[in-house]
Amino acid sequence: MNIVEINALSKEYKVKKKRIRALDNLSLTIQKGEIFGFLGPNGAGKSTTIKILTDQIRATSGSATIFGIQSNKAEARRQIGYLPENPAFYDFMTAREYLSFTGKCFNMPESSLAERTNQVLATLDLLDAANRPLKGFSKGMTQRLGLAQALLHDPDLFIFDEPMSGLDPVGRAMVKKIIKDLKNKGKTVFFSTHITSDVEVVCDRVGILVKGRLVAIDSVEHIMATGIEGYIIQIRGQDNKTEEIKVSNSELNGVIARLLADNVKIERVNPVAHNLEDFFLDTIQAQVPTNESQ
Ligand SMILES: Nc1ncnc2c1ncn2[C@@H]1O[C@H](COP(=O)(O)OP(=O)(O)OP(=O)(O)O)[C@@H](O)[C@H]1O
Ligand SMILES: [Mg+2]
Repeated sequence: MNIVEINALSKEYKVKKKRIRALDNLSLTIQKGEIFGFLGPNGAGKSTTIKILTDQIRATSGSATIFGIQSNKAEARRQIGYLPENPAFYDFMTAREYLSFTGKCFNMPESSLAERTNQVLATLDLLDAANRPLKGFSKGMTQRLGLAQALLHDPDLFIFDEPMSGLDPVGRAMVKKIIKDLKNKGKTVFFSTHITSDVEVVCDRVGILVKGRLVAIDSVEHIMATGIEGYIIQIRGQDNKTEEIKVSNSELNGVIARLLADNVKIERVNPVAHNLEDFFLDTIQAQVPTNESQ
């Protein structure tokens, strides 16, 4: 069974008398245990998709299921750990009180709630601030509490709208580790982001949304492999100096064989790779003429 199934989803917002097409016939499936990165420039429709999946707004046409259940059913939402784009909490509560409130909303038994609260506070490095009112929380701390409340009830699917947003490098590393740990536990994660380098490290697959349309979907492994344009071979040359030789993919084996036959010391072979950022930018740019010609 697909954990998430999106079928021909379209969404039009009506603003005054104008219609804004935010999603255009989006279809997508996410498998169990998959970490899926949802990339797209500002205004592409990422949050709109996520809001439909979590039934905060309704699609104009099309449908979506979560664990086979229509996404507009409360039963579907019970099985999701959700981080909104701009998490905001009752600021008179402390982090611990807020998590207790969240746990009760998910019918977590009192007996396990306190222990689980401490676990997620520790995971997000919030234990020291646990008893402070949320009014004084910084942007990064609020984001980390957003992640803590999404993890609390330990569901099988996580939907994060820009989980790295507002976090410093330590916080971003923390989120990457959390996502990798979720994957190791067999959980499924669907998250939107702009940070392609983070996607490269944690995702199995990426989809790129441009102006509400899914314009590319592929495994990160495949994107990275097809992005190799050649190699740089670093050798210890004459006079003991380091030299670099640039070769194409097809030349690699032959050049290495010749160097070895000549007893040349090979110090390093590095791929010259297109990274995910290049793929992302190229994919978006490729859409520009299409859209302009409409
Ligand atoms: N409530 C709304 N009313 C009117 N238009 C909206 C509304 N929400 C979103 N839109 C429009 O729908 C389009 C998609 O917005 P959305 O927030 O889904 O993009 P996004 O990919 O999440 O962007 P970002 O990366 O900036 O978060 C944009 O043109 C946006 O202006
Ligand atoms: Mg958004």
